[in-house]
Amino acid sequence: MSEITLDLRALPKAEAYAQLNEHVRAVLAGVDDRVTAMATVSCLVHHAFGHLWTGFYRVVEPGRLLRVGPYQGTLGCLEIPFGRGVCGTAAAEGRTVVVEDVHAFPGHIACDDRSASEIVVPVFDADGALLAVFDVDATTTGAFDEEDRVGLERILAWFGSAPAGVATAGVATAGVAPA
Ligand code: SME
Repeated sequence: MSEITLDLRALPKAEAYAQLNEHVRAVLAGVDDRVTAMATVSCLVHHAFGHLWTGFYRVVEPGRLLRVGPYQGTLGCLEIPFGRGVCGTAAAEGRTVVVEDVHAFPGHIACDDRSASEIVVPVFDADGALLAVFDVDATTTGAFDEEDRVGLERILAWFGSAPAGVATAGVATAGVAPA
């Protein structure tokens, strides 16, 4: 049952997010790798709602720099400084940012000209440290609202309640492994 990709566009948002959250948790049961989890969440959210771009920007320099992580969609910018664009704002302020019209958001970074609205949700680990932000871009204005914020924050809470091994699976640092 968990080995499928759900299309939830026909459902009211609250119900879609409830099903999606259950599905994500079933698929990730026993997973202790953040890259695996990020790829899986990107895939499932992307196909559930069919938006333009869905994925993660990871914190590679805390308080300074985000770098693109697992995503689905067209080419994303590779790096975003904290404080820049919607992703950098959500990272710097540690809160979800919902943008009804990206053209009205000062400093919005247009990776794809078709993007019209956006939601960016911070992702925290079990210690409350910022690991990443999760970005969803849509081609229609005003695609995201409070229901999306609540629904996505609940799904992404997985990263704060994951098995202990996840804490050492390290995608948040840019460290070089010893030879
Ligand atoms: N629009 C984002 C940049 C990331 S992409 O859209 C994939 C921003 O302003 O932060």
